[in-house]
Amino acid sequence: MRGDHLNNIDLVSSLIKEDSISSIFHPDSSRLSKDLILFYKKSKETKLLEALLECIPEGVEISDESGKILYVNESFEKITGIKKDSRISKNIYEVNPKSILARTLRERKIINDRLTTAPDINREVVANGSPIFFDNKMIGAIILIKDISQIIHLAKKLNQTTHYLNEMYNRNSEHYKFTDIIGGSSSIQNVIQLAKKVAPMDSTVLIEGENGTGKELFAHSIHESSLRIDKPFFRVNCAAIPEHLLESEFFGHEKGSFTGASNKKVGIFELANGGTLFLDEIGDMPILLQSKLLRVLQEGEIRRVGGSKTIKVDVRIITATNRNLKEMVSKGRFREDLYYRINVITIRIPSLKERVEDILELTDFFIRKYNKKFRKMILGIEPKAFEKLSEHSWPGNVRELENVIEYAVLTSDTEILGLEHFAAKIPAKNIANNRTGIIPLVEMERLHIHKALKLYGNTLKGKKQAAQALGISLATLYNKLKNNGIG
Ligand SMILES: Nc1ncnc2c1ncn2[C@@H]1O[C@H](COP(=O)(O)OP(=O)(O)OP(=O)(O)O)[C@@H](O)[C@H]1O
Ligand SMILES: [Mg+2]
Repeated sequence: MRGDHLNNIDLVSSLIKEDSISSIFHPDSSRLSKDLILFYKKSKETKLLEALLECIPEGVEISDESGKILYVNESFEKITGIKKDSRISKNIYEVNPKSILARTLRERKIINDRLTTAPDINREVVANGSPIFFDNKMIGAIILIKDISQIIHLAKKLNQTTHYLNEMYNRNSEHYKFTDIIGGSSSIQNVIQLAKKVAPMDSTVLIEGENGTGKELFAHSIHESSLRIDKPFFRVNCAAIPEHLLESEFFGHEKGSFTGASNKKVGIFELANGGTLFLDEIGDMPILLQSKLLRVLQEGEIRRVGGSKTIKVDVRIITATNRNLKEMVSKGRFREDLYYRINVITIRIPSLKERVEDILELTDFFIRKYNKKFRKMILGIEPKAFEKLSEHSWPGNVRELENVIEYAVLTSDTEILGLEHFAAKIPAKNIANNRTGIIPLVEMERLHIHKALKLYGNTLKGKKQAAQALGISLATLYNKLKNNGIG
């Protein structure tokens, strides 16, 4: 009798030592089983154990060997949303034959860390089950359930925040220079000349252009040609800033300035001090932050959230957008005063459609790039395939072209890329002017010249042959090449 009593006290104290899951599934299962039998039979100790089981945060459910449920604690009810009354005295094989308790009984072995969802309340739980043996005979089973929905919720939040931060600060971005911008067309060359001219000045630059036209490339190149070359270049994707991170990410905060601000934080303006801050997708900046940004641009100083002193900052601002900011201003979605402030110098990058003549050079460039990456030896592109590239409308501009070439290089097992290598990425319906089938004459001429040069080669001999095939003199060919910015 006294020994039994001591056994129960042992069990209670081992349970109290927390880490309750592992202590209940004590390897010495015969001791555990003995205690559990006492738990059902002896009233005083039973009460003590029951009180303990009612206190622990894990849900507990115990059945006998036939599956009849003997005990369910308070936490089980809370975690699973299943009422005690709907379980006690019922058979687990009937109420939930797929449950961990039923499986533990069926398989007569410990089931550890099974992640499941409590069906009634859609909450993530971890369940552990263990059979109970007495004199080598299974007399029942016990399961413990832990609510981990909070942990999962926090993990998801953390993931999301990390994603935002990575998106916001393009930390691993490469250092592009003007020489990395490919394209001999006069339209892109004019833009490069303008950007080179403004690079050494400290003025604010607004870069406009459709998706994938190379706005980031230009922003980098401007910084790399500026006097700030040795200072930091920071890119912030304004579209990726969640409202609640916004102000403190930009301006920093003092310790304790709001719930969760357990440490002082230096904002992006301070980090970029002396260097360049590239505000990408400025058109997506929330209006509240627009006014704060305007103040910084006007006053050249910031104040941390919760701070009282102002900090002088010297940051060159480059902004980029694929939206029509002017139109946004007229609709009241972008502050007019900020628009004028950032729009001191505007660089508009032409879309790829506007400079079809660059496609050949870009194609060659990307073939070389992906040859290196994938260890391939692609030599070039068939005239028919090139024609297809020239006719495509390129809504995704240079990025789309790069993806198309990457895919073609990767999938090709011939030395020359043919039509078949582009069929998957460029569906026929995206061909420009396909409704009328009419291509502007200038573009036709450009295409034809390309085709001839591709066929005969870009050497003097090739050009002579090309001119002959096109029925023009060599001088006229040179003129046309110059005018089209191909030569
Ligand atoms: N003229 C160019 N020469 C070489 N590569 C280019 C050129 N223009 C763009 N690219 C390449 O195309 C891709 C897209 O460029 P980038 O990210 O600068 O475009 P973006 O205008 O900022 O696009 P988005 O509007 O989608 O942000 C990059 O891989 C870049 O290296
Ligand atoms: Mg960009």
